[in-house]
Amino acid sequence: MNIVAIVGSLRKDSYNMQLAKTMQERYKGKLNIKIADIGSLPHFDQDEENNPPQPVKEFKDAIANADGVMIITPEYNWSVPGVLKNALDWASRVDKVFIGKPVMTLGATMGMLGTVRAQMHLREILVSPGIQAKILPPGGNEVLIGFANQKFDEQTHQLVEEGTLNFLDSKVEAFVDFVKLV
Ligand SMILES: Cc1cc2nc3c(=O)[nH]c(=O)nc-3n(C[C@H](O)[C@H](O)[C@H](O)COP(=O)(O)O)c2cc1C
Repeated sequence: MNIVAIVGSLRKDSYNMQLAKTMQERYKGKLNIKIADIGSLPHFDQDEENNPPQPVKEFKDAIANADGVMIITPEYNWSVPGVLKNALDWASRVDKVFIGKPVMTLGATMGMLGTVRAQMHLREILVSPGIQAKILPPGGNEVLIGFANQKFDEQTHQLVEEGTLNFLDSKVEAFVDFVKLV
């Protein structure tokens, strides 16, 4: 199963990127997870949307060809980071590559609430007319990782907290089943 991961942080030591890489490694027998390079996308410009720059074309092609998308993002100021919104805005125009695409959302933060406010905004964005993703239904299927600085190994940069890994396994399993159904 081919999955594109979109990570909402460009920070070198990003916990969300570490989560994406942990998942790439942990599920490699089952999932081929490719991490999109949203840092190379220019600011969205509607004048460019019909013939966008090459990084935008590659980003949109990757989503169009994926079986599913994982959005792994921190919360910035109670919402999604601008860099993620920018990527979603590009994807929402012209060929609208997210329509009907299975999407799972995850987030890690050093704070207590595990990005819940960002994920609630993200869900609203993902059902807008230009996106219309098929989101893994809520009700226990949100992966919200609080106190991230206590759950990742500083040397290996992998998520190591056992309870969180078990939870992640069950939610990824639910997403795989969801992708097969959609
Ligand atoms: C601009 C900015 C705004 C932030 N706002 C929030 C917030 O609203 N809620 C929260 O839990 N953490 C917030 N944080 C803290 C981030 O969750 C924390 O820096 C996290 O490690 C960022 O994710 P990353 O490690 O993947 O880069 C904010 C950080 C930045 C830089």
